[in-house]
Amino acid sequence: MREDLFLNASKFRFACKVFDKDKKIPCGQWHAILESGRLAPSSFGLEPTRMIVVKSKAAKEAVKKACWEQKQITDASHTIIFTSLKCDMLPGTNYIRNKFARRTKTSEELDYYIKERYGRMKLETLGYTADIEKLGMWSAHQAYIMATAMMYHAAFLKIDSCMIEGFDKVELEKYLQMDTFKEQVSLVLCLGYRAMEQGKRNRMDIHDLVRKI
Ligand SMILES: Cc1cc2nc3c(=O)[nH]c(=O)nc-3n(C[C@H](O)[C@H](O)[C@H](O)COP(=O)(O)O)c2cc1C
Repeated sequence: MREDLFLNASKFRFACKVFDKDKKIPCGQWHAILESGRLAPSSFGLEPTRMIVVKSKAAKEAVKKACWEQKQITDASHTIIFTSLKCDMLPGTNYIRNKFARRTKTSEELDYYIKERYGRMKLETLGYTADIEKLGMWSAHQAYIMATAMMYHAAFLKIDSCMIEGFDKVELEKYLQMDTFKEQVSLVLCLGYRAMEQGKRNRMDIHDLVRKI
């Protein structure tokens, strides 16, 4: 059997807690990882995720403070904050109209998709239109898909990573001067090179994980 390169990347990846702060991701590889993020799927193709790359020393320090002082933020080669749209995701917005217009042929089809498929069948039945925070959480799911695509592309290139959910959301959004009706911070991803050994991996047995019906 041919070597499974993707599985090898999955085995290489672990949540890196200590990064080598002197080692930087080569520009070409960084842009390839970004492209994997751009090509990631999103529900209805609505692309509600944005990225903020934390570049300056001052910004890294401030973000680290909001991320429970986790050192990965400052020591990783690249730290990316994933943000997610909130109110623009409501069915009546120009944002939604423009996104759906890319995939529909007639104005009737466009109206049907926005009102029925997206507005009623997807959002309303789940209570997302009535609650902007719920809508934000759904929007945030899409950020995880993008971040995961980038994390595995990185692993494929022997670049380490750590997803960071350990942050004070209010503090981070305040630092980023976000209008939290419009957007929110969903996730942080650190990419770089390990300065520690990969530890033992704890995972459940495949038979406990998978159920057949
Ligand atoms: C969404 C998400 C958020 C996480 N947040 C943090 C974090 O804030 N800090 C941290 O050190 N690890 C964080 N982790 C890493 C997990 O603790 C780790 O993936 C898990 O223990 C399994 O270990 P492994 O990734 O090394 O296989 C996060 C992982 C995920 C998927």
